[in-house]
Amino acid sequence: MKKIAVLTSGGDSPGMNAAIRAVLRSGHHHDLEVYGIYDGFKGLCEGNIRLLSREDVSRIINRGGTVLGSARYKPFLEEEVQKLGADRLKSLGIEGLVVIGGDGSFKGALALSKLGIKTIGLPGTIDNDIASTDYSIGFYTALQTIVDSVDKLRDTSFSHHRCSVVEVMGRYCGDLAVHAGIAVGSEFIITPETGFDETKTLQAVQTSYEHNKRHAIVVVTERITDVKALAESITKNTQYEARATVLGHVQRGGSPSAYDRVLATEMGEHAVSLLVNNLGNRVVGIRGIDIIDYGVEEALEMKKTVSNKRYGLVGKLLR
Ligand code: F6P
Repeated sequence: MKKIAVLTSGGDSPGMNAAIRAVLRSGHHHDLEVYGIYDGFKGLCEGNIRLLSREDVSRIINRGGTVLGSARYKPFLEEEVQKLGADRLKSLGIEGLVVIGGDGSFKGALALSKLGIKTIGLPGTIDNDIASTDYSIGFYTALQTIVDSVDKLRDTSFSHHRCSVVEVMGRYCGDLAVHAGIAVGSEFIITPETGFDETKTLQAVQTSYEHNKRHAIVVVTERITDVKALAESITKNTQYEARATVLGHVQRGGSPSAYDRVLATEMGEHAVSLLVNNLGNRVVGIRGIDIIDYGVEEALEMKKTVSNKRYGLVGKLLR
């Protein structure tokens, strides 16, 4: 293999740049030419592809977002469009591709593998919803952003005897909410894994009041319930006045944490090693402290395991 390419796809995540840098630097270490594909699978199909130099990845290890740009590109679900993408790579003599993104991006990578391109997926998403890895690139940075924001909310909630209802991202995965809930000492967490029980939520908030707490914090994963309506219900049915805050896309930005930079660098290097060994159709992950890889199909079939102990922790610390 002489030429490889790298793209970022789906929602961006802090640390993607560190992964791009690691792919380029490891590629050069193995005397490969490394191409950057701009704006994900969309850019691939449109031929938005450029040979990267060492300078292109200078001073990006600390930058949030992705210098290559990203996109959610539905047309890539269609076989004809996938073929167009594979042909673009073949016409440039590119045999290997590193795809940094979430589960959806891995499906795109799988399609290209079937069309003869050796692809390696790296988990890049703040949601941490990928079963084939303990942690995805960006998760811990987003978590810290949430914790910093909730710490600020606590200052004002405390001053006003209020309850803060905070909606965090995660799509269908509660990892951001449960980790944030523990880290900020919240009264209650609501995630896809716990489900939403309004009565229990109100009871937990009221219990906090009865323990003379001046403020309460409820952390909720997006898409479960309307946080504004929940705040109104808390105001009506408990002794706290409540306010809802949707943290939104600030969670995706910012300079990656040291952990995410290290993880991205290790994963990027691992991806290139696989390609150099002529392996494709694999995704990289971390289990414990080990960087590992699985076949893409196997990885996509895995179900994420949920730590019930971790989910139970917030309730246990309420009193
Ligand atoms: O997958 C990352 C994520 O930030 C999710 O947490 C969120 O549901 C989604 O992307 C938002 O997507 P978009 O930026 O396309 O609105």
